[in-house]
Amino acid sequence: MSPSQPGVTAAAEQGDAIEIGVLGLGHVGLVTALGLAELGWRVVGADDDREKAQRIAGGEAPFYEPGIEDALRRHLSLGQFRVAPDGPSAIRAAQILFVCVGTPLDRSGQVDLSQVEAVARTVARNLNGYKLVVEKSTTPARTAEQIERVIRRDSGLANSSFDVAVNPEFLREGTALKDFLNPDRIVLGVESERAAGLLVRLYRPLLERLPEGASRLLVVDRTTAELVKHAANAFLAVKVSFINMVADICEAVGADVEMVAQGLGLDPRIGPEFLRAGVGYGGYCLPKDLRSFTRIGEALGVDAGLLEAADRVNEARVERFVEKVRRALWVLRGKTVAVWGLAFKPGTDDVREAPSLKIVARLLDEGVALRLYDPRAMGEFRRHFAQAPGQLVYCSSAVEAVRGSEALLILTEWPEFREQDFSRVRELMALPVVVDGRNCLDREALQNLGFEYHGMGRG
Ligand code: UDX
Repeated sequence: MSPSQPGVTAAAEQGDAIEIGVLGLGHVGLVTALGLAELGWRVVGADDDREKAQRIAGGEAPFYEPGIEDALRRHLSLGQFRVAPDGPSAIRAAQILFVCVGTPLDRSGQVDLSQVEAVARTVARNLNGYKLVVEKSTTPARTAEQIERVIRRDSGLANSSFDVAVNPEFLREGTALKDFLNPDRIVLGVESERAAGLLVRLYRPLLERLPEGASRLLVVDRTTAELVKHAANAFLAVKVSFINMVADICEAVGADVEMVAQGLGLDPRIGPEFLRAGVGYGGYCLPKDLRSFTRIGEALGVDAGLLEAADRVNEARVERFVEKVRRALWVLRGKTVAVWGLAFKPGTDDVREAPSLKIVARLLDEGVALRLYDPRAMGEFRRHFAQAPGQLVYCSSAVEAVRGSEALLILTEWPEFREQDFSRVRELMALPVVVDGRNCLDREALQNLGFEYHGMGRG
């Protein structure tokens, strides 16, 4: 979207002097900041990681996300987006503050909210006029209440000096900016008319574009908004684990999970999305949100066994996949195997909680020599992969990775993998064996070329 498009004009034409602050410039924060800039708002961002903030200020995105770097450079040069020297400066400059800091899990599986609390305290110390603090990070129910309590206590000011609202994000990595600009719903958790009014005004350019107008706008209380987000991610995780369990049953009885998923997805009550069987879900959100939702349920005396089971199914995918490789190759020790795909999903360089981290570690333990390739995530994989390299080679291309390999494992469904010249791949491989952990290759085409193909749940 260019600045001359409707959204940008809609906000800008109002001559609005409001500046929006975004605190925390990670995957959610930077996309939110640039999305708001695309809508025509002036945005100031801040991040405690000085190095990251400086890279962003210099026009360099600290992670790969389609369209982000272009948007960053454009909005920096247009002056729609700037990076503040620190959090307090951004807070003082802005009237609406989006809290986008990290909410990692601690060792016990609970969300560590120390960064959220630190932001609340910094806001309290820098209240130079009315502020609307918007919780964007995924947090447990009632976090907004705590933010409000901290700001009130630390500032000594009444609630009329500020509001705290909840506006969960539903951004998928790889399509995050597109998701921001084309939301399927906007959820606002608010406790005051003023907060509701400001947020509706902020999102007006998007609301005007929503296909069914206001029906996709959900204005609820803050705790409900927090739960919408947590429940959505928990549900998605359960859905993926469900199809993975069905895949295992398909494998045992000789059915094809791809066809079963198609049949299921045609039922409008179920829908076709999130029914792709494979090596399991990863990333920063689904695993973390499912686990913290489980802990919340348990703490409240609610039976969260359903969520626990989804987590268990997902954890078991790694061993299930390694067993599949073992069945294909029989003895693993001493074999050379190519791996295509390390990112937790295509379109990103993110490997947090990616199945590849565990699968690669397990295969190295089994004495397998691995040749790895990912179009984007090699650098991140190296950074996250704790284990000593052992028999590990990082390759410059997909074709390079298969040279001399006795099997090819697919762990991420990057589109470029489907488009490889498989005759050439077959020539280069020592044995034509493919274990497709994402069911993304053309099974028949590979079999016709003489490959032995193993998919997930394709009996
Ligand atoms: C998720 C939510 O979708 C998004 O709304 C939220 O704001 C952030 O968390 P993201 O983590 O980017 O987004 O990835 P998503 O597309 O949800 O995929 C999560 C994981 O599930 C990936 O590892 C993906 O490979 C896996 N997955 C997804 C499957 O294994 N099968 C599927 O059918 C769908």
